This record gives sequence, C-alpha cells and structure tokens, in this order.
Amino acid sequence: MKQDLIVILDLGSTENTVVARQIRDMGVYSEIHPHDITPDALKALNNVKGIILNGGENRVVDGVAVDVDPAIYDLGYPVIAIDHPTAKCDKTYDALLDDETMKSFLFDTCKAEANWNMKNFIADQVELIRQQVGDKKVLLALSGGVDSSVVAALLIKAIGKQLVCVHVNHGLMRKNESENVIDVFRNQLDAELIYVDATDRFLDLLAGVDDPEQKRKIIGKEFIEVFAEEARKLDGIDFLGQGTIYPDIIESGTKTAKAVKSHHNVGGLPEDLQFGLVEPLAQLFKDEVRACGVELGLPAEMVYRQPFPGPGLGVRCLGAITRERLNALREADAILREEFAKAGLDKKVWQYFTVIPDFKAVGVRDNARSMGYMVVIRAVNTIDAMTAEIERLDYDFLEKVVDRITTEVPSVNRVCYELTKKPVATIEFESEMD
Ligand code: XMP
Repeated sequence: MKQDLIVILDLGSTENTVVARQIRDMGVYSEIHPHDITPDALKALNNVKGIILNGGENRVVDGVAVDVDPAIYDLGYPVIAIDHPTAKCDKTYDALLDDETMKSFLFDTCKAEANWNMKNFIADQVELIRQQVGDKKVLLALSGGVDSSVVAALLIKAIGKQLVCVHVNHGLMRKNESENVIDVFRNQLDAELIYVDATDRFLDLLAGVDDPEQKRKIIGKEFIEVFAEEARKLDGIDFLGQGTIYPDIIESGTKTAKAVKSHHNVGGLPEDLQFGLVEPLAQLFKDEVRACGVELGLPAEMVYRQPFPGPGLGVRCLGAITRERLNALREADAILREEFAKAGLDKKVWQYFTVIPDFKAVGVRDNARSMGYMVVIRAVNTIDAMTAEIERLDYDFLEKVVDRITTEVPSVNRVCYELTKKPVATIEFESEMD
C-alpha cells in the first residue's frame, strides 16, 4: 500500500466504522485493528501516520477493562484517545471528534497526505493480486451482484484470463440478469466466463417445497453443488476469488465487539476443493466498492443496483414455487423496475420489488369471471436494513404500474401496495430466520 494509514485500535467502541469512515472521507486511509495488536505487528503495517484508541461501552470484558500494550506509546506515532482517558496519549477526547478537530489531527499532527482514492487503491491491488497469484489461476463465482462484479473486474485488470468466472443461473434471477452478466463480462471485458443454466435442476428440486427455510437451504446447497461440479472440471486452479468486504470482516466481531454475524462467505465448498483466497475488496466499505466499480468502468446499473437476496426471486415467490408464478413475478418485477427507472426513483429508493403469494383471486377479464394471481409491491428506504421505512409512492405512478402489470402479465388480476415498516414486518416476505 502506498497510502498513508491511520490505525484505529478497538477498545470497545461501537463506532469504529464511523471513525474509519470519517477519516477515509477526508481522503486518508484508515483501518480498524484489535486493541491487543502487538507493537511489532503495528510497526509492520505500511505508512502508519497516527493511532486512535477508540474506547466505548464494550471496553470491559469479563470484568476487566481491556487496554493496549504500553510499548505502543513508544513507537513514535502520534496517539489520541476517544472515550477513556489515559495520560500517555497526546490528547484525549470524550466523544467522537468533529471534522475540524479530526482534520487537524490528520494533517497537522500526523502530517498525513490525503492520498486515499480509488485510482491508487486499484493500482495497489493490481500489484498485490499479481504478487499473490503469480501465474496460477483464480476461480470466481460471479453472481452479478455488486461485490462479485467488482472483484471480477479488478481481477480481470490484474490477471486477465487467469481468472475463470462461473455464473450459475439458478432460474431465480430477475429478467435479463444473466444475459447482462454475460454481455458485460464475456463480450465487453473479454473475461473467461463459464455460464451454467441450472434452472431445471433448481426448480425440479424446489417443486412442492413450501417451507421458506427449506427453500433457502435447497437453493444454497444446490448452488454449492453446481459450482463445485464446475470447479472439478477445471484444471490448475489454485485460488478462489471472494467478494468479501470490510463490514463482513468487522461484523465477524473483534475481541470487544459483539459478533453480529459470522463471516461465512467461503460458503462450505467440499473438502476436496480447498483454494487459497483472493479477497481484494476486504478493506472497502460498500460505497467504496461501488466507487471502485465505477473507476474500473463497470456499467452504472451493475454498480448501483439495489440489494437482491442470494436465493433471488425464490424468496418472493411465496409458498411452493411454480414456473407459472415465477414467470409472472419476473415480468411484474421487470415492469416495476422499468417504471422506477423512468421516474428516476431507482436512484432514490433503497429497495423495491414485487412478491407473488400462492393463491388466486377472482377477477373479471374479457367479460368473464376469471381467477388470477395477486402481485404485491414493496418499496422501502433504510440505512442498514435493520429497520425500514415505506417509500410514499405517488398515486398516479402506482396506477400506471398496476395498469401495466395487469395488462402485460395476463395471469395477474390484482396488485397491492404493502405499507408495513420494519419492524414489525421484514423487508422481504420470506426472510431468513437467524
Ligand atoms: P429482511 O427481509 O430480513 O431483509 O428485512 C433485509 C435485507 O437483506 C436482504 N435479504 C437477503 N440477502 N440472502 C441475501 O443475500 C438472503 O437470504 C436474504 N434475505 C433477505 C433483503 O433483500 C434486504 O435487503
């Protein structure tokens, strides 16, 4: 890494990422490390310019307040502390630093340079990836989601055709999604891309299964199965590319932070398929991943796409999935997305989608009573997906969407707009039970 670094040592703060973000937003690279990092390990980090001891409510572990190795104060770096007073620091603050104070610490005290930007990051990573991979090959499961797409683009830049991408279409993708992945990566970026249309395998296994957890398990397990089958057909693969990002690592829990969720991207590949990992986005926050994707030339629709669950439309086709309802759902979703884009709402609303319940309602079509499906529209805004507010969609806009769906998707004769916040609802209808 060529960039200057400010190290945040976690002494039980719940706001490490807020501090890291604040520093990075000022153009200086920052990393969060555990409080018990050894002075040698700290010295081994590149270009350290200063240290912030970040205390907080989780500082006391098993009745003892955790602390840093005092030898850290003798390394010669400027050290400040937030929320735990210590005489050894250059300065102690009761609460998070305001921007002016932080700037003064970064640029006056630490003499850091504002050289954290995506151009430098990409240049560094290209070098690091080449060093790690050498002339070996890397395999990547390319879903078309933001993280895997950006990893793919970065690896293509670094090692070209030494990267082998596998895109598994589980039949639960949105309209044209797999086609777009093929177009961008195979046609535009000239990637080595294996496309596996496993729709029948997934839908056959899911036939008649109505329990949401069971559906998720089948989809997850079969995905690994299909991917492993493809991996076994390939020779000379030494590495697996992963779209792991910084929150995945931080959320796995440091010594003082409560583990929020375990970092399980590696995702249970069978024993005979053990690879070294290449995780070039592991230090980036989500918006930095997007900025990296833009810098690498990926299309905006791919980089700024809304979150989409791994099990895809499978969690939105309620009850036992049938091809007929899945197709109706896919078409309705495509119409909703098209109208959102036309109205400029795609840039404003965090997540918007359709859901199809597994019952029919009576309606009238061509002067006769007919049974049809109901489609539910959901449009929510959130910061962290832990809570969510409803987007107040315009009535005329909604009417247009309803008209289009009921006209262009003949098996649908009702459309509802769902208005429940999270909590008490979840964002999806069939959500993961942790
Ligand atoms: P819920 O429904 O729990 O969703 O309020 C919160 C966010 O997580 C997404 N989500 C998933 N993402 N696999 C994923 O990759 C899943 O199984 C899954 N379930 C929910 C959901 O779309 C929302 O953004």
